[in-house]
Amino acid sequence: GTTLGAAAARSGRYFGTAINASKLGDPAYTTIAGREFDMVTPENEMKLDATEPRQGQFVFTAADRIVDWAAENGKRVRGHTLVWHSAQPQWLQSLSGSALRQAMVDHINGVMGHYKGRIYAWDVVDEAFADGTGGRRNSNFQRTGDDWIEVAFRVARAADPDARLCYNDYNIENWTWAKTQSVYNMVKDFKQRAVPIDCVGFQSHFNSGNPYDAGFRTTLQNFAALGVDVQITELDIQGAPAATYAAVTGDCLAVPRCAGITVWGVRDPDSWRSGDVPLLFDGNGDKKPAYTAVLDALNAA
Ligand code: G3I
Repeated sequence: GTTLGAAAARSGRYFGTAINASKLGDPAYTTIAGREFDMVTPENEMKLDATEPRQGQFVFTAADRIVDWAAENGKRVRGHTLVWHSAQPQWLQSLSGSALRQAMVDHINGVMGHYKGRIYAWDVVDEAFADGTGGRRNSNFQRTGDDWIEVAFRVARAADPDARLCYNDYNIENWTWAKTQSVYNMVKDFKQRAVPIDCVGFQSHFNSGNPYDAGFRTTLQNFAALGVDVQITELDIQGAPAATYAAVTGDCLAVPRCAGITVWGVRDPDSWRSGDVPLLFDGNGDKKPAYTAVLDALNAA
């Protein structure tokens, strides 16, 4: 394969990127995104504040722009994200208890209903666990009761039975970390009790605070053994060392249930951490050494 998407497809996988709707008018951006990737994740446009700025009034303008662009260009879409402690509109932040629980259910139904049949996988719940201790994050959703995560997944399954349903988080790449173990135990429990979950997204924002290590492959293998797909959903690596990008790619390729890799932006200046130059293309749109390392790893599979 001469592009990331084509090379990943050799082993039945996808290679995706986060897309920002505000950049779809930039031909330098769309040329690279259109050529290289076969999966797209809206970076911000499907979040709670974007899609339901006022309660019960859904706005899909920006997200539709991305989903339409993806369809026109033959790409699939990862939906990101339905329930998250961050990017919440004011009205939601002021709710609690059963009113908040109902708002969560209505939100999932509203957004998934609009995109029914058009989404490959949804990040149903994002970042529900705390760093360090591995306990549940103390969010407004968590304060509605421990069962909020499984309720979200059950509602999501009914809203679009064809979409894969993922739990997505960061700092769960290192197998020895408490947070990784907590998410693992939740997924294991969900599978045992038939709570509908199909995939786990490992964001994979690697940097000095969350350094990549070879144990990532163990993590992917152990989760996959629970009977879920694993996906690398928001990959970026501080400094974009080619060897680390190759190693991460190799970890996914080594795990049959690793469905694909998504990088969190196209060019370095598009990154939420642009100062880290963590992506595969530089500001001129040129391929970096990390790009070649990933492409070669995919083509070796
Ligand atoms: O669009 C508004 C603009 O109208 C306003 O004037 C401006 C002033 O702050 O903010 C703009 O919104 C920003 C938005 O990005 C769009 O650029 C938000 O402030 C900013 O917080 C938001 O950051 C995003 C962040 O999630 C929070 O939602 C990043 O772009 C996005 O890369 C980042 O992505 C997250 C994943 O969703 C979940 N995992 C971690 C990852 C990195 O933080």
